[in-house]
Amino acid sequence: MPDNLTRRQVLGAASTALVTARAARPAASSDKPAILGGPPVRTAPFPSWPVIDGNEERAWTDVLHNGKWNRLDGDCARRFEETWAATLGAKHCLATANGTSALFASLNALGIGPGDEVIVPPYTFVATVNAVLLQHALPVFVDTDPGTFQIDARKIEAAITERTRCILPVHLGGSPADLDTILEIGRKHNLPVLEDACQAHLAEWRGRKVSTLGALGCFSFQASKNLNSGEGGAILTNDTDLYHACQSFHNNGRGQTGSGFGYARNGANLRITEFQAALLMEQLKRVEQQSHTREQNAAYLTKQLAEIPGVVPARMYSGATRNAYHLYMFRYDPAHFANLPRSRFLAAMKAEGVPGSGGYTPLNKEPFLKHTFDSRAYRAIYPGKQLAEWTERNHCPANDKLCEEAVWFTQTMLLGPRVDMDQIAATIRKIQGHAATLVERS
Ligand SMILES: Cc1ncc(COP(=O)(O)O)c(C=O)c1O
Repeated sequence: MPDNLTRRQVLGAASTALVTARAARPAASSDKPAILGGPPVRTAPFPSWPVIDGNEERAWTDVLHNGKWNRLDGDCARRFEETWAATLGAKHCLATANGTSALFASLNALGIGPGDEVIVPPYTFVATVNAVLLQHALPVFVDTDPGTFQIDARKIEAAITERTRCILPVHLGGSPADLDTILEIGRKHNLPVLEDACQAHLAEWRGRKVSTLGALGCFSFQASKNLNSGEGGAILTNDTDLYHACQSFHNNGRGQTGSGFGYARNGANLRITEFQAALLMEQLKRVEQQSHTREQNAAYLTKQLAEIPGVVPARMYSGATRNAYHLYMFRYDPAHFANLPRSRFLAAMKAEGVPGSGGYTPLNKEPFLKHTFDSRAYRAIYPGKQLAEWTERNHCPANDKLCEEAVWFTQTMLLGPRVDMDQIAATIRKIQGHAATLVERS
């Protein structure tokens, strides 16, 4: 085994070769579905994640042995921040412990607090909303555009009140939200836009990297993300005052840098470690090539899936010039699959060797929100009437429907050879061809 390849990668390469060989034999649509005992379309796993080689190991052990494990002692975090800021074209980057803390520190720097309302999408990971709740602010959900899976920017203005202090769009799945409309609304109402780019590494809006168009933008480097250090996060901004406020807050409220005992504000320890930053420096070397591969495969897959009745791939806004494809998302319409329920469709795909997910459930309907609003802190801050009206204001019918229709593939499924895309499409066609039998045999 070459010493710059791990066992995991060698196995991954072998399975890719196997897949390529099998591709010469496209799945016959007459084959019985695997879930009913027929041969699966594929048996090889999709590419494994993370991708590493000896450089990650060297970077990690260098930190281990130099003993500078904390960013206040070492310089890996600083070097990563400089590189990521330059890659994205931002003035400042602050690395953080994770994406949640990046959002939390950003909201704090913007002065968002008790009594304030923050516009959020309901189609996102819970951390977007938790960051708002950590500041004791009120998340206000704006419905989803089912065509793109993004916040419906056309509906934001109607949700703004005199208490609104921030718009927090998410570039969900790596596809940019409609930033032209959102930034324009922000300017008109004098509201900062905080971009949740936690899933959108290298995504672009009109040629500019997302996270750099709003007042601040946040990333996650959690294990599933397209840039990964197990856990990790970053805040990007061109505003030096906001950068200093985040910097201080994330370092226990100290003056801008260092480990002394002088404090400028309240704060928390949200610092990244040198181990995480050392890994990121190595992972960064692959991120452009991996993004390119995902884009190529996604474009090819979309062409094929768009031809299958009942499968509607998420589209991008015209201003979105690059999609990071953290997720490949489409809507599934059972009416074109003999009314095969989505759960059975997903199970049938999994049996064929193509794992998909049904994605998020409606966040605005999560019972934990009601419990939070019933808490002593929220009852002390918000008039009962405002909390009672909240449910009425936060209906998101398009999102409810999308949550029932969505199907996702993870980013790693886009990292292999093109034949993987052929097999994904062949799997869906095979299930469609046998949908009536699958319904019968449920
Ligand atoms: C859209 C979104 N926002 C925020 C986060 C939070 O990031 P982290 O898990 O690094 O705290 C995530 C991560 O899963 C995310 O997907």
